[in-house]
Amino acid sequence: MRTLVTGGAGFLGSHLCERLVRDGHEVICLDNFFSGKRANVAHLRGHPNFEIVLHDIVNPILLEVDRIYHLACPASPVHYQYNPVKTIKTSVMGTINMLGLAKRVKARILLTSTSEVYGDPQEHPQTESYWGHVNPIGVRSCYDEGKRVAECLMMDYHRQNNVDIRIVRIFNTYGPRMAINDGRVVSNFCVAALRGENLEIYGDGKQTRSFAYVDDLIEGLLRMMETPDLTGPVNIGNPDEFTILELASLAIELAHSSSKLKYMPARPDDPVRRRPDISMARKYLNWEPATPLRKGLSSTMEAFRHELGGEDPGH
Ligand SMILES: NC(=O)c1ccc[n+]([C@@H]2O[C@H](COP(=O)([O-])OP(=O)(O)OC[C@H]3O[C@@H](n4cnc5c(N)ncnc54)[C@H](O)[C@@H]3O)[C@@H](O)[C@H]2O)c1
Repeated sequence: MRTLVTGGAGFLGSHLCERLVRDGHEVICLDNFFSGKRANVAHLRGHPNFEIVLHDIVNPILLEVDRIYHLACPASPVHYQYNPVKTIKTSVMGTINMLGLAKRVKARILLTSTSEVYGDPQEHPQTESYWGHVNPIGVRSCYDEGKRVAECLMMDYHRQNNVDIRIVRIFNTYGPRMAINDGRVVSNFCVAALRGENLEIYGDGKQTRSFAYVDDLIEGLLRMMETPDLTGPVNIGNPDEFTILELASLAIELAHSSSKLKYMPARPDDPVRRRPDISMARKYLNWEPATPLRKGLSSTMEAFRHELGGEDPGH
């Protein structure tokens, strides 16, 4: 099986490439290295089944492949708000280009959409049938609305051109190789705790999030891709809810740090609660997360500790 992974040098993409190569696939990792980096896939270079292509998906490309995992899109607010117009171009034009490719070579294509399509949800937990509560003109819109259009494009290519599609809505995922500076809560807390710096809490810290460990998420993506006749969308995430304060204290404990909490004003359009309903994933993919937060966060902390070069936690 020849498999294309767009965004393959990013956090999730690099784990996906690794798993696909291990499972015997021929993998093409396509990336423009905007938020991803070569170091994430350095260990795969030289493997006979692995190839890196430097390409920006806002431009079309022709490759002979059987499967397309379409991940390319900056995922953290720091990255996607750096150049919002480029972000929405990546989601819209990039997805059109990948769907065009899938149509032409008759490949099956999976889009990694996001829980952000639910916006600041008014239903808890979120099922796939919930249409969301999204601000179309806010600072997150380039990402949220970009993904909503990407989902629309997937469905329209499916209905109009019979393209074989899969849509997955990913909820917060964490693990080794998250970028140190990506501004997401798990990386922020791990890095701050390891450095003995204050952990910044936006708002009162009682907003909840669910955190899925990367290995569980990758397993969900593979199952979705290979399940026949299931277009989705299907939520993939961990339904266990934790407050930001709980996450902060676990990070401090696992880093053996004496960091303190620092309260900051709430961020605009920051959802109060978000938690997946994963009944569909359980039923159709026979999938559910297997890694408890403490275990996953501990491996993630180790990876950050290694990357920070063994900096001592401040006391
Ligand atoms: N990590 C999460 O918690 C999460 C949650 C929901 C959805 N997702 C989705 O999963 C996918 C991967 O997320 P991630 O966390 O690995 O993010 P990431 O930023 O680490 O990876 C994205 C990759 O896409 C590449 N890329 C960006 N724009 C591109 C372009 N125009 N052309 C080619 N490559 C481009 C980046 O260089 C990077 O390697 C994204 O589509 C994201 O929306 C992730």
